[in-house]
Amino acid sequence: MMLITIKCNFEALLKYEYDYQAKHKTMKRIAIFASGSGSNAQKIIEYFRDNKEIEVTLVLSNNKGAYVLERAVAMDIPAYVFNRQLFYETEEVHDILRDIGIDYIVLAGFLWLVPENLLKSWPNHIINIHPALLPKFGGKGMYGDKVHQAVIEAGEKETGITIHYVNEKYDEGEIIFQKVFKILPNDTPESIAEKIHALEHTHFPAVIEQLVDKIDKK
Ligand code: GRF
Repeated sequence: MMLITIKCNFEALLKYEYDYQAKHKTMKRIAIFASGSGSNAQKIIEYFRDNKEIEVTLVLSNNKGAYVLERAVAMDIPAYVFNRQLFYETEEVHDILRDIGIDYIVLAGFLWLVPENLLKSWPNHIINIHPALLPKFGGKGMYGDKVHQAVIEAGEKETGITIHYVNEKYDEGEIIFQKVFKILPNDTPESIAEKIHALEHTHFPAVIEQLVDKIDKK
């Protein structure tokens, strides 16, 4: 049921946009990719809701059960679900983003590598958020509480968030922004996750805005 709603929304958007965007596009458009809950996606959507220059145009997910899809629909943002074959072996996702005039791709809890066709068409316009201080504690399989568990086991004194450009490897693109906090003796993976999320929600939308501003004023 939910997927039908999503698909209808999305097709209506594409049809409308095809002609419109070439003539009138002034807004910078963001597509958010997310695989799970989507609390960051929600904060970003809320942050730009009344912005005159930047909008979240589409939410995409590789996971048809992801809660981010419900959040998107509830906030009237079209959502699109794809599978591995579509993403890596066809141009479908690429062409959708191109056809609706996406300028920036934001990964917010997206667990797959970004394919080369997207990296080529959006150079330096794809960013990710990671719940640790890269270059440590990144890479394949490093997501969610596994990251915080590894940070605690390594005896780190501090952790934080990293926002970085995306390249062909997991969590290795150039770092744009980091925010650090001290780990307390009684911190657990859960308590760290909570603090990380709060930091992400505060900083991610603002960093996106600054980045768009900086790139577009070049
Ligand atoms: C965030 O902690 C982010 O750093 C990581 O995945 C998590 C996504 O959380 N890449 P949410 O789905 O936005 O709540």
